[in-house]
Amino acid sequence: MTIREALKKNSKLEIELLLAHALQRPKEFLFMHPGKKMTAAQVSSLAGLVKRRQRGEPAAYLLGYKDFCGLRFCVDKRVLVPRPETEWVVEKAAEKLKNLKAQNPHRQVRVLDVGTGSGAIIVSLAKQLGSTDFKYLASDVSAAALQVARRNARTHKVKIVFCRSNLLKAVRGSFDVLIANLPYGWKAWRNNTAAETAGLRFEPRKALFTGEQGLREIRRLLEELAARPSRPLWAYIEFDPRQKNGISSLIKKTLPQARLKFYRDLAKHWRYAEIKIG
Ligand SMILES: C[S@@+](CC[C@H](N)C(=O)[O-])C[C@H]1O[C@@H](n2cnc3c(N)ncnc32)[C@H](O)[C@@H]1O
Repeated sequence: MTIREALKKNSKLEIELLLAHALQRPKEFLFMHPGKKMTAAQVSSLAGLVKRRQRGEPAAYLLGYKDFCGLRFCVDKRVLVPRPETEWVVEKAAEKLKNLKAQNPHRQVRVLDVGTGSGAIIVSLAKQLGSTDFKYLASDVSAAALQVARRNARTHKVKIVFCRSNLLKAVRGSFDVLIANLPYGWKAWRNNTAAETAGLRFEPRKALFTGEQGLREIRRLLEELAARPSRPLWAYIEFDPRQKNGISSLIKKTLPQARLKFYRDLAKHWRYAEIKIG
């Protein structure tokens, strides 16, 4: 089979990425050498990748990476594949951190990413904002996820203090901004066979699902925040659109003085909570 034939046989855009991966060449190679004959090993490697993809395994796991905020992150089964909608959180938090720095020119502004997974959020922030004015902290309950996050921080040459912690339990000291993209899936997600959710069964359950209609980790986080002697000034939380009212009640109950604003994602679904705590 030639490269051209392999591309024709599998029409989806992803095939280009899978084929480049099987050939261990950049994507441009495919279009510069469409008539090149593939070796038997390459044909069989491509067939294996296509089969796994057809079974619903996320392309990011097959390729070993996912692009997020313009950076390439190494991902595997130890971590959730970072989603495009989470890029908003990075953008919003970066804006807020820059404002806080302008108001506090003589000290480092501290940001914590709870449930960091691959480290996509905190590494992107550190890459955008640099290490002079800001201190970056990230935690996860999963030691395996932290290995991936540390590797991504090394790859992108950013300094982040990682800590294994069940929510805030092992997190020491104060921080100005908190970001949380914790698991917020629940039963209703499990039987969803839509193309975009078919890959969920390959991702770590603990990264996706939790109790109380997906609100358990967020509720616990808010309670832990309320009980801390020094609270952050701002928090950003990503959630499922169906949880908006639930989140609103939880915040009113746990942090009654806080000011709350919700934002929609690009698909116009409610997706983010911005909480002014301090
Ligand atoms: C939805 S994933 C998000 C990963 C990453 N923040 C992102 O946006 O791609 C949730 C992450 O939270 C972690 N997690 C789940 N429960 C946790 C808990 N109680 N304390 C800390 N981390 C937790 C999971 O291990 C997983 O890495």
